[in-house]
Amino acid sequence: MKSKYAILFICVVALVIIEKESSILSRVSDKLSQMHNPHQTPETLQDYSNTTARSSFTVLKVLLSKLPSTKGNFSNFSEEQPEEVDNVGNSLDHKHVLLMASTRTGSSFVGEFFNQHGESMFYLFEPLWHVERMLFPDVEANNGTLLPEIYRDIIQALFLCDFSPLEKFISPPPQDHVTPDLFRRESSMALCEEPVCTPEIKEVFERYHCKTRHCGPLNLTLASESCLSKQYRAIKTVRVRLLETLQPLLEDLRLDVRIIQLVRDPRAILASRMVAFSSKYQTWKTWAQDGQVPEDNEEVKRLKGNCDQLRISAEMGLSQPPWLRRRYMLVRYEDIARNPMQKAEEMYKFTGIPFSSQAREWILRNTQSVQEASGIYSTQKNSSEQADKWRFSIPFTLAQVVQKVCGPTMKLFGYKYVDDEKTLVNKSVSLLEEKQFH
Ligand SMILES: *[C@@H]1O[C@H](CO)[C@@H](O)[C@H](O)[C@H]1NC(C)=O
Ligand SMILES: *[C@@H]1O[C@H](CO)[C@@H](O)[C@H](O)[C@H]1NC(C)=O
Ligand SMILES: *[C@@H]1O[C@H](CO)[C@@H](O)[C@H](O)[C@H]1NC(C)=O
Ligand SMILES: *[C@@H]1O[C@H](CO)[C@@H](O)[C@H](O)[C@H]1NC(C)=O
Ligand SMILES: *[C@@H]1O[C@H](CO)[C@@H](O)[C@H](O)[C@H]1NC(C)=O
Ligand SMILES: *[C@@H]1O[C@H](CO)[C@@H](O)[C@H](O)[C@H]1NC(C)=O
Ligand SMILES: *[C@@H]1O[C@H](CO)[C@@H](O)[C@H](O)[C@H]1NC(C)=O
Repeated sequence: MKSKYAILFICVVALVIIEKESSILSRVSDKLSQMHNPHQTPETLQDYSNTTARSSFTVLKVLLSKLPSTKGNFSNFSEEQPEEVDNVGNSLDHKHVLLMASTRTGSSFVGEFFNQHGESMFYLFEPLWHVERMLFPDVEANNGTLLPEIYRDIIQALFLCDFSPLEKFISPPPQDHVTPDLFRRESSMALCEEPVCTPEIKEVFERYHCKTRHCGPLNLTLASESCLSKQYRAIKTVRVRLLETLQPLLEDLRLDVRIIQLVRDPRAILASRMVAFSSKYQTWKTWAQDGQVPEDNEEVKRLKGNCDQLRISAEMGLSQPPWLRRRYMLVRYEDIARNPMQKAEEMYKFTGIPFSSQAREWILRNTQSVQEASGIYSTQKNSSEQADKWRFSIPFTLAQVVQKVCGPTMKLFGYKYVDDEKTLVNKSVSLLEEKQFH
Protein backbone atom coordinates (compact mmCIF):
# COMPACT_ATOMS: atom_id res chain seq x y z
CA MET A 1 0.00 0.00 0.00
CA LYS A 2 2.76 2.37 1.05
CA SER A 3 4.63 1.95 -2.19
CA LYS A 4 1.50 2.83 -4.16
CA TYR A 5 1.43 6.20 -2.47
CA ALA A 6 5.11 6.60 -3.10
CA ILE A 7 4.56 5.93 -6.77
CA LEU A 8 1.70 8.40 -6.92
CA PHE A 9 3.86 11.01 -5.27
CA ILE A 10 6.71 10.45 -7.71
CA CYS A 11 4.34 10.76 -10.64
CA VAL A 12 3.07 14.09 -9.37
CA VAL A 13 6.62 15.35 -8.84
CA ALA A 14 7.56 14.23 -12.32
CA LEU A 15 4.60 16.00 -13.83
CA VAL A 16 5.57 19.18 -12.02
CA ILE A 17 9.11 18.88 -13.35
CA ILE A 18 7.89 18.33 -16.89
CA GLU A 19 5.49 21.24 -16.56
CA LYS A 20 8.32 23.50 -15.41
CA GLU A 21 10.57 22.48 -18.25
CA SER A 22 7.94 23.16 -20.88
CA SER A 23 7.32 26.62 -19.49
CA ILE A 24 11.03 27.39 -19.60
CA LEU A 25 11.17 26.09 -23.11
CA SER A 26 8.23 28.12 -24.29
CA ARG A 27 9.92 31.21 -22.92
CA VAL A 28 13.02 30.22 -24.81
CA SER A 29 11.00 29.70 -27.96
CA ASP A 30 9.54 33.17 -27.67
CA LYS A 31 12.95 34.65 -27.18
CA LEU A 32 14.35 32.79 -30.12
CA SER A 33 11.65 33.60 -32.56
CA GLN A 34 12.76 37.21 -32.31
CA MET A 35 16.29 36.32 -33.23
CA HIS A 36 17.95 35.52 -36.49
CA ASN A 37 18.17 32.10 -38.01
CA PRO A 38 14.42 32.02 -38.51
CA HIS A 39 14.60 28.75 -40.45
CA GLN A 40 16.60 26.77 -38.02
CA THR A 41 15.90 27.77 -34.47
CA PRO A 42 12.17 27.12 -34.05
CA GLU A 43 12.67 23.60 -35.28
CA THR A 44 15.68 23.30 -33.05
CA LEU A 45 13.78 24.26 -29.96
CA GLN A 46 10.87 22.01 -30.81
CA ASP A 47 13.26 19.10 -31.08
CA TYR A 48 14.97 20.16 -27.94
CA SER A 49 11.77 20.29 -25.97
CA ASN A 50 11.05 16.68 -26.94
CA THR A 51 14.46 15.71 -25.69
CA THR A 52 14.04 17.20 -22.26
CA ALA A 53 10.56 15.82 -21.85
CA ARG A 54 12.05 12.44 -22.62
CA SER A 55 14.81 12.91 -20.12
CA SER A 56 12.26 13.69 -17.42
CA PHE A 57 10.63 10.39 -18.19
CA THR A 58 13.98 8.75 -17.89
CA VAL A 59 14.44 10.21 -14.43
CA LEU A 60 11.01 8.99 -13.52
CA LYS A 61 11.87 5.52 -14.74
CA VAL A 62 15.01 5.53 -12.68
CA LEU A 63 13.08 6.49 -9.58
CA LEU A 64 10.51 3.82 -10.25
CA SER A 65 13.14 1.20 -10.80
CA LYS A 66 14.46 1.90 -7.31
CA LEU A 67 11.13 1.05 -5.72
CA PRO A 68 10.37 -2.49 -4.57
CA SER A 69 8.68 -3.98 -7.58
CA THR A 70 5.02 -4.74 -7.09
CA LYS A 71 2.16 -5.74 -9.34
CA GLY A 72 2.49 -2.53 -11.35
CA ASN A 73 4.14 -2.58 -14.74
CA PHE A 74 5.70 0.74 -15.55
CA SER A 75 7.81 -0.15 -18.51
CA ASN A 76 5.37 1.79 -20.65
CA PHE A 77 6.25 5.22 -19.32
CA SER A 78 8.53 5.80 -22.21
CA GLU A 79 8.47 3.95 -25.46
CA GLU A 80 12.04 4.88 -26.18
CA GLN A 81 15.47 3.94 -25.00
CA PRO A 82 14.64 1.27 -22.46
CA GLU A 83 18.36 0.46 -22.42
CA GLU A 84 19.09 3.67 -20.51
CA VAL A 85 17.71 2.13 -17.38
CA ASP A 86 20.24 -0.66 -17.69
CA ASN A 87 23.05 1.87 -17.56
CA VAL A 88 21.90 3.07 -14.19
CA GLY A 89 23.16 0.11 -12.26
CA ASN A 90 26.80 0.47 -13.27
CA SER A 91 26.88 4.24 -13.58
CA LEU A 92 27.87 4.40 -9.93
CA ASP A 93 31.43 3.61 -10.94
CA HIS A 94 31.44 6.44 -13.42
CA LYS A 95 32.82 9.82 -12.48
CA HIS A 96 31.88 13.07 -14.13
CA VAL A 97 34.09 16.13 -13.91
CA LEU A 98 32.96 19.59 -14.91
CA LEU A 99 35.75 22.11 -15.24
CA MET A 100 33.99 25.44 -14.86
CA ALA A 101 36.12 28.40 -15.89
CA SER A 102 36.09 31.64 -17.81
CA THR A 103 38.19 32.61 -20.81
CA ARG A 104 41.90 33.26 -20.23
CA THR A 105 42.07 31.33 -16.98
CA GLY A 106 44.23 28.54 -18.34
CA SER A 107 41.26 26.22 -18.72
CA SER A 108 42.58 24.59 -21.91
CA PHE A 109 45.75 23.72 -20.04
CA VAL A 110 43.94 22.39 -16.98
CA GLY A 111 41.49 20.54 -19.22
CA GLU A 112 44.46 18.64 -20.60
CA PHE A 113 45.19 17.27 -17.13
CA PHE A 114 42.05 15.20 -17.63
CA ASN A 115 42.14 14.78 -21.40
CA GLN A 116 45.55 13.15 -21.06
CA HIS A 117 44.39 10.69 -18.42
CA GLY A 118 44.36 7.73 -20.78
CA GLU A 119 42.02 5.21 -22.27
CA SER A 120 39.28 5.33 -19.63
CA MET A 121 38.67 9.07 -20.04
CA PHE A 122 36.17 10.72 -22.34
CA TYR A 123 36.94 14.43 -22.46
CA LEU A 124 35.06 17.16 -24.31
CA PHE A 125 36.45 20.61 -24.95
CA GLU A 126 33.89 23.42 -24.83
CA PRO A 127 30.87 21.65 -26.37
CA LEU A 128 28.60 24.56 -25.36
CA TRP A 129 30.37 26.68 -27.95
CA HIS A 130 27.81 25.44 -30.48
CA VAL A 131 24.88 26.48 -28.31
CA GLU A 132 26.25 29.91 -27.66
CA ARG A 133 27.06 30.48 -31.30
CA MET A 134 23.56 29.60 -32.40
CA LEU A 135 21.67 31.46 -29.68
CA PHE A 136 24.01 34.36 -28.99
CA PRO A 137 26.17 35.16 -31.98
CA ASP A 138 27.46 38.18 -30.12
CA VAL A 139 29.37 36.38 -27.41
CA GLU A 140 30.28 39.43 -25.40
CA ALA A 141 26.69 40.63 -25.25
CA ASN A 142 25.66 37.42 -23.54
CA ASN A 143 25.80 38.17 -19.87
CA GLY A 144 25.38 34.52 -19.09
CA THR A 145 22.12 34.83 -17.23
CA LEU A 146 20.06 33.69 -20.18
CA LEU A 147 19.23 30.08 -20.78
CA PRO A 148 21.46 28.42 -18.23
CA GLU A 149 18.92 25.60 -18.32
CA ILE A 150 19.91 24.73 -21.85
CA TYR A 151 23.59 24.70 -21.00
CA ARG A 152 22.94 22.51 -18.02
CA ASP A 153 20.72 20.06 -19.87
CA ILE A 154 23.27 19.66 -22.64
CA ILE A 155 26.02 18.96 -20.14
CA GLN A 156 23.75 16.49 -18.44
CA ALA A 157 23.03 14.67 -21.70
CA LEU A 158 26.72 14.64 -22.63
CA PHE A 159 27.68 13.19 -19.27
CA LEU A 160 25.19 10.44 -20.15
CA CYS A 161 26.86 10.14 -23.57
CA ASP A 162 23.78 11.42 -25.39
CA PHE A 163 24.85 13.80 -28.15
CA SER A 164 21.38 14.40 -29.57
CA PRO A 165 20.57 17.62 -27.68
CA LEU A 166 23.94 19.07 -28.70
CA GLU A 167 23.44 17.91 -32.27
CA LYS A 168 20.49 20.29 -32.61
CA PHE A 169 22.88 23.17 -32.14
CA ILE A 170 25.63 22.09 -34.50
CA SER A 171 25.60 24.12 -37.68
CA PRO A 172 25.37 23.06 -40.43
CA PRO A 173 23.22 20.23 -39.04
CA PRO A 174 24.92 16.83 -38.97
CA GLN A 175 23.87 14.42 -41.70
CA ASP A 176 22.99 10.97 -40.34
CA HIS A 177 24.67 12.02 -37.07
CA VAL A 178 27.92 12.69 -38.89
CA THR A 179 29.60 16.11 -38.83
CA PRO A 180 32.96 17.58 -39.79
CA ASP A 181 32.16 20.65 -37.69
CA LEU A 182 32.39 19.68 -34.03
CA PHE A 183 34.20 22.53 -32.34
CA ARG A 184 37.80 21.65 -31.44
CA ARG A 185 37.25 17.96 -31.97
CA GLU A 186 41.01 17.53 -32.07
CA SER A 187 41.20 18.66 -28.45
CA SER A 188 39.53 15.48 -27.33
CA MET A 189 41.77 12.43 -27.35
CA ALA A 190 38.78 10.10 -27.22
CA LEU A 191 37.44 11.59 -30.47
CA CYS A 192 40.82 11.14 -32.15
CA GLU A 193 41.43 7.49 -31.40
CA GLU A 194 40.06 4.30 -32.92
CA PRO A 195 37.31 3.54 -33.58
CA VAL A 196 35.89 7.09 -33.42
CA CYS A 197 38.62 8.30 -35.72
CA THR A 198 37.95 6.76 -39.09
CA PRO A 199 40.55 7.19 -41.82
CA GLU A 200 39.53 9.59 -44.54
CA ILE A 201 40.43 9.98 -48.20
CA LYS A 202 43.39 12.19 -48.96
CA GLU A 203 41.81 15.45 -50.08
CA VAL A 204 39.94 16.06 -46.84
CA PHE A 205 42.93 15.35 -44.61
CA GLU A 206 43.62 18.96 -43.86
CA ARG A 207 40.12 19.81 -42.85
CA TYR A 208 39.36 17.10 -40.34
CA HIS A 209 42.75 16.54 -38.85
CA CYS A 210 43.39 15.46 -35.33
CA LYS A 211 46.65 16.31 -33.65
CA THR A 212 48.19 12.91 -34.06
CA ARG A 213 46.37 11.40 -36.99
CA HIS A 214 44.01 12.16 -39.82
CA CYS A 215 40.37 11.37 -39.24
CA GLY A 216 37.21 11.51 -41.28
CA PRO A 217 34.18 13.55 -40.23
CA LEU A 218 32.94 12.72 -36.76
CA ASN A 219 30.28 10.05 -36.44
CA LEU A 220 28.42 11.08 -33.29
CA THR A 221 26.98 7.61 -32.83
CA LEU A 222 30.52 6.27 -32.60
CA ALA A 223 31.42 9.12 -30.25
CA SER A 224 28.51 8.20 -28.02
CA GLU A 225 29.51 4.52 -28.02
CA SER A 226 33.05 5.46 -27.11
CA CYS A 227 31.77 7.67 -24.30
CA LEU A 228 29.60 4.86 -22.92
CA SER A 229 32.62 2.59 -22.81
CA LYS A 230 34.66 5.02 -20.69
CA GLN A 231 34.55 5.06 -16.93
CA TYR A 232 35.43 8.74 -16.55
CA ARG A 233 33.95 11.72 -18.36
CA ALA A 234 35.13 15.29 -18.20
CA ILE A 235 33.85 18.47 -19.80
CA LYS A 236 35.54 21.81 -19.79
CA THR A 237 33.44 24.92 -20.27
CA VAL A 238 33.82 28.67 -19.97
CA ARG A 239 30.12 29.19 -20.57
CA VAL A 240 28.50 28.24 -17.29
CA ARG A 241 28.49 31.40 -15.20
CA LEU A 242 26.56 30.56 -12.08
CA LEU A 243 27.19 27.45 -10.06
CA GLU A 244 23.64 27.35 -8.70
CA THR A 245 22.25 26.65 -12.17
CA LEU A 246 23.96 23.26 -12.03
CA GLN A 247 22.13 21.98 -8.97
CA PRO A 248 19.93 19.51 -10.91
CA LEU A 249 23.07 17.94 -12.39
CA LEU A 250 24.37 17.15 -8.94
CA GLU A 251 21.02 15.76 -7.90
CA ASP A 252 20.76 13.48 -10.93
CA LEU A 253 20.91 9.92 -9.61
CA ARG A 254 22.53 8.71 -12.79
CA LEU A 255 25.54 10.96 -12.40
CA ASP A 256 28.42 11.34 -9.97
CA VAL A 257 29.48 14.90 -10.69
CA ARG A 258 32.46 16.84 -9.32
CA ILE A 259 32.84 20.52 -10.14
CA ILE A 260 36.17 22.28 -10.32
CA GLN A 261 35.90 26.05 -10.54
CA LEU A 262 39.01 27.58 -12.01
CA VAL A 263 39.66 31.25 -11.26
CA ARG A 264 42.39 33.75 -11.98
CA ASP A 265 43.34 37.28 -11.02
CA PRO A 266 40.78 39.46 -12.87
CA ARG A 267 43.54 41.97 -13.73
CA ALA A 268 45.42 39.19 -15.48
CA ILE A 269 42.29 38.04 -17.26
CA LEU A 270 41.67 41.52 -18.61
CA ALA A 271 45.28 41.90 -19.70
CA SER A 272 45.19 38.54 -21.43
CA ARG A 273 41.86 39.18 -23.13
CA MET A 274 43.10 42.49 -24.48
CA VAL A 275 45.78 40.55 -26.31
CA ALA A 276 43.80 37.48 -27.32
CA PHE A 277 40.53 39.18 -28.28
CA SER A 278 42.16 42.30 -29.57
CA SER A 279 39.33 43.75 -31.65
CA LYS A 280 36.64 43.16 -29.01
CA TYR A 281 38.71 44.93 -26.42
CA GLN A 282 39.40 47.98 -28.56
CA THR A 283 37.57 50.21 -26.09
CA TRP A 284 39.86 49.12 -23.28
CA LYS A 285 42.89 49.81 -25.43
CA THR A 286 41.67 53.29 -26.15
CA TRP A 287 41.21 53.87 -22.43
CA ALA A 288 44.69 52.52 -21.83
CA GLN A 289 46.07 55.19 -24.16
CA ASP A 290 43.88 58.00 -22.83
CA GLY A 291 44.55 57.08 -19.24
CA GLN A 292 40.87 57.62 -18.44
CA VAL A 293 38.04 55.18 -17.98
CA PRO A 294 34.39 56.31 -17.86
CA GLU A 295 33.06 54.37 -14.92
CA ASP A 296 29.46 54.03 -16.00
CA ASN A 297 30.48 52.47 -19.29
CA GLU A 298 28.85 49.21 -20.39
CA GLU A 299 32.22 47.47 -20.68
CA VAL A 300 33.06 48.32 -17.11
CA LYS A 301 29.65 47.12 -15.96
CA ARG A 302 30.18 43.87 -17.82
CA LEU A 303 33.52 43.38 -16.13
CA LYS A 304 31.84 43.94 -12.78
CA GLY A 305 29.07 41.52 -13.72
CA ASN A 306 31.61 38.82 -14.61
CA CYS A 307 33.49 39.32 -11.39
CA ASP A 308 30.30 39.20 -9.35
CA GLN A 309 29.24 35.95 -10.99
CA LEU A 310 32.62 34.38 -10.22
CA ARG A 311 32.38 35.43 -6.60
CA ILE A 312 28.74 34.41 -6.16
CA SER A 313 29.52 30.96 -7.58
CA ALA A 314 32.58 30.53 -5.40
CA GLU A 315 30.76 31.70 -2.30
CA MET A 316 28.05 29.18 -2.96
CA GLY A 317 30.56 26.39 -3.56
CA LEU A 318 32.64 27.19 -0.50
CA SER A 319 29.55 27.40 1.69
CA GLN A 320 29.00 23.69 0.96
CA PRO A 321 25.23 23.42 0.61
CA PRO A 322 24.04 19.80 0.96
CA TRP A 323 23.75 19.29 -2.79
CA LEU A 324 27.39 20.29 -3.29
CA ARG A 325 29.06 18.77 -0.28
CA ARG A 326 32.46 17.33 -1.23
CA ARG A 327 31.62 17.95 -4.87
CA TYR A 328 33.05 21.42 -5.32
CA MET A 329 36.66 22.53 -5.53
CA LEU A 330 38.03 26.01 -6.12
CA VAL A 331 41.39 26.23 -7.85
CA ARG A 332 43.44 29.31 -8.65
CA TYR A 333 45.29 29.47 -11.94
CA GLU A 334 48.28 30.98 -10.16
CA ASP A 335 48.61 28.01 -7.81
CA ILE A 336 48.54 25.65 -10.75
CA ALA A 337 51.18 27.70 -12.54
CA ARG A 338 53.44 27.61 -9.50
CA ASN A 339 52.94 23.98 -8.76
CA PRO A 340 51.19 22.15 -11.55
CA MET A 341 51.96 18.61 -10.47
CA GLN A 342 50.84 19.06 -6.90
CA LYS A 343 47.66 20.85 -7.95
CA ALA A 344 46.87 18.20 -10.54
CA GLU A 345 47.30 15.57 -7.87
CA GLU A 346 44.90 17.42 -5.58
CA MET A 347 42.36 17.76 -8.35
CA TYR A 348 42.55 14.09 -9.20
CA LYS A 349 42.22 13.17 -5.55
CA PHE A 350 39.16 15.37 -5.29
CA THR A 351 37.51 13.73 -8.31
CA GLY A 352 38.23 10.21 -7.12
CA ILE A 353 39.87 9.39 -10.43
CA PRO A 354 43.32 7.78 -10.22
CA PHE A 355 46.12 10.12 -11.33
CA SER A 356 47.49 8.17 -14.27
CA SER A 357 51.12 8.03 -15.30
CA GLN A 358 50.15 9.35 -18.74
CA ALA A 359 48.64 12.48 -17.21
CA ARG A 360 51.68 12.88 -14.97
CA GLU A 361 54.04 12.63 -17.94
CA TRP A 362 52.04 15.11 -19.97
CA ILE A 363 52.18 17.65 -17.15
CA LEU A 364 55.91 17.15 -16.75
CA ARG A 365 56.51 17.62 -20.46
CA ASN A 366 54.33 20.70 -20.71
CA THR A 367 55.35 22.65 -17.67
CA GLN A 368 59.10 22.31 -17.98
CA SER A 369 59.21 22.99 -21.67
CA VAL A 370 61.15 26.00 -22.86
CA GLN A 371 59.01 26.08 -25.98
CA GLU A 372 57.36 29.41 -26.58
CA ALA A 373 53.61 29.77 -26.86
CA SER A 374 52.66 28.83 -30.39
CA GLY A 375 49.22 30.40 -30.40
CA ILE A 376 46.73 32.07 -28.10
CA TYR A 377 45.22 28.76 -27.01
CA SER A 378 48.55 27.05 -26.68
CA THR A 379 49.06 24.94 -23.63
CA GLN A 380 52.81 24.57 -24.16
CA LYS A 381 54.09 27.28 -21.94
CA ASN A 382 56.55 27.63 -19.12
CA SER A 383 53.67 28.03 -16.77
CA SER A 384 55.40 29.62 -13.79
CA GLU A 385 56.91 32.26 -16.02
CA GLN A 386 53.63 32.94 -17.79
CA ALA A 387 51.64 33.54 -14.64
CA ASP A 388 53.14 36.96 -13.92
CA LYS A 389 53.56 38.25 -17.46
CA TRP A 390 50.35 40.26 -17.42
CA ARG A 391 51.81 42.70 -14.91
CA PHE A 392 53.97 44.16 -17.64
CA SER A 393 51.27 44.38 -20.28
CA ILE A 394 48.39 46.01 -18.41
CA PRO A 395 48.53 49.78 -17.83
CA PHE A 396 48.24 50.72 -14.18
CA THR A 397 45.05 52.73 -14.86
CA LEU A 398 43.26 49.60 -16.03
CA ALA A 399 44.55 47.54 -13.13
CA GLN A 400 43.04 50.20 -10.88
CA VAL A 401 39.67 49.96 -12.61
CA VAL A 402 39.65 46.19 -12.12
CA GLN A 403 40.56 46.59 -8.47
CA LYS A 404 37.70 49.02 -8.06
CA VAL A 405 34.92 46.96 -9.66
CA CYS A 406 36.20 43.48 -8.76
CA GLY A 407 37.29 44.26 -5.21
CA PRO A 408 35.18 41.71 -3.31
CA THR A 409 36.06 38.99 -5.84
CA MET A 410 39.79 39.69 -5.57
CA LYS A 411 39.57 39.68 -1.81
CA LEU A 412 37.79 36.33 -1.72
CA PHE A 413 40.34 34.70 -4.01
CA GLY A 414 43.34 36.31 -2.33
CA TYR A 415 44.62 38.69 -5.01
CA LYS A 416 46.43 41.69 -3.54
CA TYR A 417 45.86 45.25 -4.67
CA VAL A 418 48.65 47.41 -5.99
CA ASP A 419 48.69 51.11 -5.14
CA ASP A 420 51.15 52.30 -7.73
CA GLU A 421 52.70 51.35 -11.03
CA LYS A 422 56.06 50.55 -9.48
CA THR A 423 54.58 47.79 -7.37
CA LEU A 424 52.64 46.44 -10.32
CA VAL A 425 55.83 45.77 -12.27
CA ASN A 426 58.02 44.82 -9.31
CA LYS A 427 58.47 41.09 -9.69
CA SER A 428 59.68 40.64 -6.15
CA VAL A 429 56.29 41.70 -4.84
CA SER A 430 53.87 38.80 -4.97
CA LEU A 431 50.26 39.70 -5.66
CA LEU A 432 49.05 36.37 -4.41
CA GLU A 433 48.01 35.65 -0.84
CA GLU A 434 48.69 32.14 0.34
CA LYS A 435 45.22 30.74 0.69
CA GLN A 436 43.58 27.37 1.08
CA PHE A 437 40.00 26.93 -0.06
CA HIS A 438 37.99 24.27 1.69
C1 LIG B 1 8.52 16.79 -31.13
O1 LIG B 1 7.19 16.80 -30.70
C2 LIG B 1 6.28 17.34 -31.64
C3 LIG B 1 4.89 17.34 -31.04
O2 LIG B 1 4.95 17.29 -29.65
C4 LIG B 1 6.34 16.49 -32.93
O3 LIG B 1 5.48 17.07 -33.92
C5 LIG B 1 7.75 16.45 -33.45
O4 LIG B 1 7.83 15.58 -34.58
C6 LIG B 1 8.69 15.95 -32.38
N1 LIG B 1 10.06 16.03 -32.87
C7 LIG B 1 10.93 15.04 -32.67
C8 LIG B 1 12.29 15.24 -33.21
O5 LIG B 1 10.66 14.01 -32.06
C1 LIG C 1 5.46 -5.21 -18.59
O1 LIG C 1 5.01 -4.78 -19.87
C2 LIG C 1 5.87 -5.07 -20.93
C3 LIG C 1 5.26 -4.53 -22.23
O2 LIG C 1 4.64 -3.33 -22.03
C4 LIG C 1 6.07 -6.57 -21.02
O3 LIG C 1 7.03 -6.84 -22.05
C5 LIG C 1 6.58 -7.08 -19.71
O4 LIG C 1 6.65 -8.50 -19.77
C6 LIG C 1 5.65 -6.70 -18.57
N1 LIG C 1 6.22 -7.10 -17.31
C7 LIG C 1 5.48 -7.61 -16.35
C8 LIG C 1 6.20 -8.00 -15.09
O5 LIG C 1 4.29 -7.78 -16.45
C1 LIG D 1 1.83 -0.73 -23.03
O1 LIG D 1 1.39 0.06 -24.10
C2 LIG D 1 0.83 -0.71 -25.17
C3 LIG D 1 0.46 0.26 -26.29
O2 LIG D 1 1.15 1.43 -26.21
C4 LIG D 1 -0.41 -1.45 -24.66
O3 LIG D 1 -0.95 -2.25 -25.70
C5 LIG D 1 -0.02 -2.33 -23.50
O4 LIG D 1 -1.14 -2.95 -22.95
C6 LIG D 1 0.67 -1.51 -22.42
N1 LIG D 1 1.14 -2.37 -21.36
C7 LIG D 1 0.84 -2.16 -20.10
C8 LIG D 1 1.39 -3.15 -19.15
O5 LIG D 1 0.23 -1.18 -19.71
C1 LIG E 1 21.33 40.07 -18.87
O1 LIG E 1 20.77 40.44 -20.10
C2 LIG E 1 19.36 40.44 -20.14
C3 LIG E 1 18.90 40.79 -21.53
O2 LIG E 1 19.90 41.26 -22.33
C4 LIG E 1 18.83 41.42 -19.10
O3 LIG E 1 17.42 41.38 -19.08
C5 LIG E 1 19.35 41.03 -17.74
O4 LIG E 1 18.94 41.98 -16.77
C6 LIG E 1 20.87 40.96 -17.74
N1 LIG E 1 21.33 40.50 -16.45
C7 LIG E 1 22.38 41.01 -15.82
C8 LIG E 1 22.74 40.40 -14.51
O5 LIG E 1 23.07 41.89 -16.30
C1 LIG F 1 28.05 5.82 -37.61
O1 LIG F 1 28.38 4.77 -36.74
C2 LIG F 1 27.32 3.88 -36.48
C3 LIG F 1 27.78 2.91 -35.40
O2 LIG F 1 28.88 2.18 -35.82
C4 LIG F 1 26.94 3.17 -37.77
O3 LIG F 1 25.87 2.28 -37.53
C5 LIG F 1 26.53 4.21 -38.78
O4 LIG F 1 26.27 3.61 -40.02
C6 LIG F 1 27.62 5.27 -38.95
N1 LIG F 1 27.08 6.33 -39.76
C7 LIG F 1 27.59 6.62 -40.96
C8 LIG F 1 26.90 7.69 -41.72
O5 LIG F 1 28.57 6.05 -41.40
C1 LIG G 1 60.35 28.40 -16.25
O1 LIG G 1 60.25 29.67 -15.64
C2 LIG G 1 60.76 29.72 -14.31
C3 LIG G 1 60.50 31.08 -13.73
O2 LIG G 1 60.96 32.09 -14.54
C4 LIG G 1 62.25 29.39 -14.33
O3 LIG G 1 62.75 29.37 -13.01
C5 LIG G 1 62.45 28.03 -14.97
O4 LIG G 1 63.81 27.77 -15.10
C6 LIG G 1 61.79 27.96 -16.34
N1 LIG G 1 61.89 26.61 -16.84
C7 LIG G 1 62.36 26.35 -18.04
C8 LIG G 1 62.45 24.92 -18.39
O5 LIG G 1 62.71 27.23 -18.81
C1 LIG H 1 60.54 45.86 -5.25
O1 LIG H 1 59.98 45.39 -4.06
C2 LIG H 1 60.93 45.04 -3.08
C3 LIG H 1 60.19 44.40 -1.91
O2 LIG H 1 59.14 45.21 -1.48
C4 LIG H 1 61.73 46.29 -2.67
O3 LIG H 1 62.68 45.95 -1.71
C5 LIG H 1 62.39 46.85 -3.91
O4 LIG H 1 63.03 48.05 -3.61
C6 LIG H 1 61.37 47.09 -5.01
N1 LIG H 1 62.06 47.46 -6.24
C7 LIG H 1 61.78 48.57 -6.90
C8 LIG H 1 62.54 48.80 -8.14
O5 LIG H 1 60.93 49.36 -6.52
